[in-house]
Amino acid sequence: MSIRYNTGSRTFILETRDSSYLMKISRYGNLLHLYYGDRIPDTDLDYLIQNQDRGFSPNPNEAGNDRAFSLDFLAQEFSTEGKGDYRTPSISVVNGDGSRIFSGKVDGYTIYKGKYSLEGMPSLRAGAKDSVETLEISLRDTESGAEAVLCYSVFEEKNIITRTTRFVNGGSADIRLTKLMSATVDYHVSDYDLVYFAGRHLMEREFTRIPVSRGLHSIGSSRGASSHQYNPFLIVCEKRADEDMGKCYGYSLVYSGNFIIEAEKDQFSRLRINAGINPRGFEFVIGPGEKFQAPEVVMAYSKHGFTGLSHLYHDVYRENLCRSPYAKKARPVLINSWEAAYFDFDDEKLLDIAKDAVGMGVDLFVLDDGWFGKRDDDNSGLGDWTENRKKIKCGLSGLSDRIHELGLQFGIWIEPEMISEDSDLYRAHPDWRLAAAGRPMSRGRNQLVLDLSRADVCDYLIDSINTLLNSAKIEYIKWDMNRSISDVWSALLPAEREGEVFHRYVLGLYRVMDEVILKHPEVLYCGCCGGGGRFDPAMLYYEPQIWCSDNSDAKARLKIQYGTSFAYPVNTLEAHVSVCPNHQTGRTTPLATRGIVAMDGIMGYELDSRKLSKEEKAVCRDQIRFYKRNYKVIAEGDYYRLSSPYENPYYTAWQHVSKDRKRSLVSLVMTDCEGNDAQRYLKLKGLDENAFYRIEGWKGRYSGALLMNAGIPISASLGEYEGVQFCLRKIGA
Ligand code: GLA
Repeated sequence: MSIRYNTGSRTFILETRDSSYLMKISRYGNLLHLYYGDRIPDTDLDYLIQNQDRGFSPNPNEAGNDRAFSLDFLAQEFSTEGKGDYRTPSISVVNGDGSRIFSGKVDGYTIYKGKYSLEGMPSLRAGAKDSVETLEISLRDTESGAEAVLCYSVFEEKNIITRTTRFVNGGSADIRLTKLMSATVDYHVSDYDLVYFAGRHLMEREFTRIPVSRGLHSIGSSRGASSHQYNPFLIVCEKRADEDMGKCYGYSLVYSGNFIIEAEKDQFSRLRINAGINPRGFEFVIGPGEKFQAPEVVMAYSKHGFTGLSHLYHDVYRENLCRSPYAKKARPVLINSWEAAYFDFDDEKLLDIAKDAVGMGVDLFVLDDGWFGKRDDDNSGLGDWTENRKKIKCGLSGLSDRIHELGLQFGIWIEPEMISEDSDLYRAHPDWRLAAAGRPMSRGRNQLVLDLSRADVCDYLIDSINTLLNSAKIEYIKWDMNRSISDVWSALLPAEREGEVFHRYVLGLYRVMDEVILKHPEVLYCGCCGGGGRFDPAMLYYEPQIWCSDNSDAKARLKIQYGTSFAYPVNTLEAHVSVCPNHQTGRTTPLATRGIVAMDGIMGYELDSRKLSKEEKAVCRDQIRFYKRNYKVIAEGDYYRLSSPYENPYYTAWQHVSKDRKRSLVSLVMTDCEGNDAQRYLKLKGLDENAFYRIEGWKGRYSGALLMNAGIPISASLGEYEGVQFCLRKIGA
């Protein structure tokens, strides 16, 4: 039993294998947070609640003369609004009478086996072998009749607790909901650091660590997608935490739209974490009897540092998130036409590229942007998802057939959420784009965004993508989204509901993806948003892999993939070998190194194979062979970051270890070199210390203990940007 209620102490106890999470109903009915951390046997933690009479901290009416009870300083499970808690709230409402008060008191709870599911939104599901229980606690505001239902599902063995909040208007007047957090956690203390992943287009998810300090710190997106700028993931960790030790708490939001994660250190040095939909530009009108569902937050706790925390997320995201049959299948090695040809191609050129790729051992040819409508640059054509016969003379189906005759699978790029003004679709439906009537609209990449808050637009997209997928043999779709959303206003919604557009857009997108994927589950879907601008668990629910960044430079990718690896498993991030000088940075790195870096993900190629020399093709062929030989350990093993590209100027190294610790692949890339350099040693991780290993190409055998404590010498002859890989095999105890 992973969820219990102790009637004596009025305490809810949630237990995973290694963690406990406790909350308590106060004497006045508020739900107070007690504890989240290492697993503990206790069921009564009352002593932790230290109340005092503090000036300027209001006391709620029900507390009468009890001046020591104030919501201003108590750790709450879901904060009230307008009742004397001045920290950033879990909820904000405008009631029918104009008051902005929500005072939720516990009004019942249920515990049941299995996992809750969210209507219209992605969330984790319990696997056949998972023992999962769910707790729902209702917090009711008696005066307005509104209710916040807090839901917790406990994945006992996986050390994961998921949370969400459902808002129900049980009153008789409309309520305007302007903020609803999926989860709030109030820590009693705040001597922690915050780790999050910030970036920009071409440099996503840079590791960022700051101390918690007084005030409100928030990360988020208001761009309509989860964004290049901040990933919806936050780690709260002890100051001493590093890869191997220290307590770490993770908050990962399963949402692809505007999000916020807040960290507030209050006047008494407590820390409040909030995660959910960004209240900026958000306002939902909830009529009597109606509900609003917040997205899911996946919470993980580990006392084994960042590595321990990452392993929890990797395992649960690999096993309990993505529905695609590809989630657990080996992915094909692809060659993508974008950096090979951009918009400048016809079918013969594409076929020549594909022919040359066959010899390299590639499995799948992906035709990127430029194949449809009137599309010779990025100024026109979006919306017209039929082939451009001037370029694809043999038609899409003909091209696909010819690619298949070469022995390759065929995939294409689409950007269904967008529309170009110069397109047949726009000429037919100018009102389908997001733009406020009577206002000049902003363009991004000279394109507009379709109004996916409209059911008719979504229906049209579902139909047109289905038609496309039925028109040719297509095994892979790269689903792109290439601009931040602005000018948010929908022609179909009344003025008082325009604050709903952003979230309705996301729900519309989920419906389109759901229906398309349901009809074509056999297709491998790859997410993309100008690279990694929508790299979030919700997208991974639909698409098992995401193009990690438009930056394909091997050195830059070391940082991008390092940051991405904290929450996301290797088999979710697509990484390509491209040409040098690199198109984004101008840097030149060895082809071998580009392969090593691309193998730290779902490997592919993005180059004109016709221009590779015989020797280069042979290198690629070897890379693909090596990658396929090691695929299982890469895609399914445990991931260890052996060094940080932010702390170690000389090299970046990482390691994959099979779950049974019998096989391991170690990769290292030199990022800087000095003359007459020091001898360096790379200490491995995750091996069986009592077993011996052979290192491919080396004589002798080495104990796991030795390799983890003394390490492997890094050859001094490795030059800048050169890399090396070691394959280890256990040979017995
Ligand atoms: C985005 C993607 C690229 C490529 C282009 C095509 O930038 O991230 O990989 O598909 O669009 O326009």
